[in-house]
Amino acid sequence: MVSRVIPVEPFELIVFGATGDLARRKILPALWRRFRAGQMPEGARVIGAARTELDTDGWRRMVAEAIGPAEGLDAFLARLDYVTVDAMGETGWPELRAACGAPEVRAVYFSVAPTLFAPLAERVRAHGLAGSGTRVVVEKPFGHDLASARALNAALAAQFSEDQIYRIDHYLGKETVQNLMAVRFGNMLFEPLWNAQYVDHIQITVAEQVGVAGRAEYYDHAGAMRDMVQNHLMQLLCLTAMEPPARFEPGAVRDEKLKVIRALEPPRWLVRGQYGAGQGQAAYVDDVGAPASGTETFVALRAEVGNWRWVGTPFYLRTGKRLSARSSEIAVVFKDTPHSIFGIDAGAHRNILAIQLQPNEGMKLWMTIKEPGPGGMRLLDVPLDMTFAETLGPDADLIADAYERLIMDVIRGNQTLFMRGDEVEAAWAWTDAAIAGFESAGERPEVYPAGSDGPRGAERMMARDQRLWREIAD
Ligand code: BG6
Repeated sequence: MVSRVIPVEPFELIVFGATGDLARRKILPALWRRFRAGQMPEGARVIGAARTELDTDGWRRMVAEAIGPAEGLDAFLARLDYVTVDAMGETGWPELRAACGAPEVRAVYFSVAPTLFAPLAERVRAHGLAGSGTRVVVEKPFGHDLASARALNAALAAQFSEDQIYRIDHYLGKETVQNLMAVRFGNMLFEPLWNAQYVDHIQITVAEQVGVAGRAEYYDHAGAMRDMVQNHLMQLLCLTAMEPPARFEPGAVRDEKLKVIRALEPPRWLVRGQYGAGQGQAAYVDDVGAPASGTETFVALRAEVGNWRWVGTPFYLRTGKRLSARSSEIAVVFKDTPHSIFGIDAGAHRNILAIQLQPNEGMKLWMTIKEPGPGGMRLLDVPLDMTFAETLGPDADLIADAYERLIMDVIRGNQTLFMRGDEVEAAWAWTDAAIAGFESAGERPEVYPAGSDGPRGAERMMARDQRLWREIAD
C-alpha cells in the first residue's frame, strides 16, 4: 500500500484563538504532522492571533511544548508567526495585516467562542484579509439552539458566501467514518440489503471514559444532547442512512444528508443519564460544582427515519461520558433468517456489520457458520475481522487524524466533509424539539455510576423493543 500526499497550494492559515486549548491540542499538532509528511509546501505559513500578549518566539515555544520533542520541529516552527489581536476591538489588526502576505490560498480559522464569530468576521473583512478566495473555518458549538445557529449563519453570511464557510464536525474527518462511505458505496454486497426489509435496526454508540472536568461551564449549559447528539451522532446517522449521492462531492453528499435529517421523526424514546461517583471518580455535580445540576451526560434514544428506505427500522443512538470503556461504533444489525432449515435447536442467527470508529479502528462482519467437528449441525456466529492495524500492517500508522484531513481539505477547497448551514439548522430544529420534550416533562436525568454502561433506563428502552444494546467494549 502506498501513502499518497496530495500536494496543496502554498497557503497562509490565520488561527484566531492561537493560544487556546483547541489550537494547542489539535490544530497545531495536526499541521506539524502534515508538515512532517511533506504537505506544507515552500511558502506555506501559519499566523497565530489571540488577545494574549505574546511575541512570535513565545508562541513558537508554546507550540513546541504542545507538540513535544520531535526531530525537525524547528523547521516547522520557523513557519509560524504570532500577532496580538483583539477580536472585539481594533488593537493589532494593522499589525496582522502587515504580517500577512499575498498567498495563493488564505484560510482563517476561528478557534474561538461562537460569540466572537460575528465581530471577527466583520474585522477580517474590514481589514482587507478576506478576498473572494478566503476560506473561514468555524468549530462547534455552532449555536445552542436553532435560533442562535441561524444568527451565527446570518453573521457569517453577511461577510462570506456559503462556499467560503467550513463548519467543522471533526467526526466527519475520522478515517473510519469515511470508510463507512467506502464500504457502502464501493461494494455491491451491501446496497441491496441496506434498507428496512433486511435491516432490523441500527445502533450508533459513542462511549467515552472521560468526564467533563475542565469544561464545566460550557458543558453544564450544553449537556450530551447538544454536545454530541446534535452534531457527531447526527452526522453518523446521516452517513449510515443517506441515499447514494451521485458523486462524492460537497453538494451531492450534503444534499443527501440534509434529506435524512429532514426525514427524522421526533425520538420515540429518549433516556437521559448523569454520571454519579464511581470507581474512584467524582460525580458530575462535583466535577461542575453545581449540586442541583439537571444536565445530562448520557443520552440514549430511538430515532426513526421516515422514508421508504427506512420506515420501521429504528436507529438507536447512545452516547455518554464516564462509561465503562472508550468505544464508538456503528452496528447494522440485519434481520434473523426467516426460516431455519436446521431446526429450532440451531437458534436464530443474524448478520451484524459493526464498524468500530475508535479505538482499534476496523470492521467486523458477523457471519453464521457451522461449528467445526462432528456432533450434528451446530451453528456459530463468527466475525470476518478487518481490524485496520492488522489488515493494513504498518500502513495503519499512516491514518491521518481528523484535523489533519479537515485542515488540508480547507486548503484544497473541498467542502464535502463540512456541514452546510442548512444542515446545521435542520439538525438543531430536530434537537430543539427533542430537548423541549424532556424539558417540559421536567424529569431529572437518571444517575449512573461512573465506569458503568449508563443508566438502567437505557436498557429498559431496548427491552421494550425486545432488543439489546451491544456491549460497550474497546
Ligand atoms: C467534542 C465534544 O466535540 O467531541 C466532547 O465536545 C467530546 O465532549 C469529544 O469528548 C469527543 O471526540 P473524540 O474525537 O475524542 O471522540
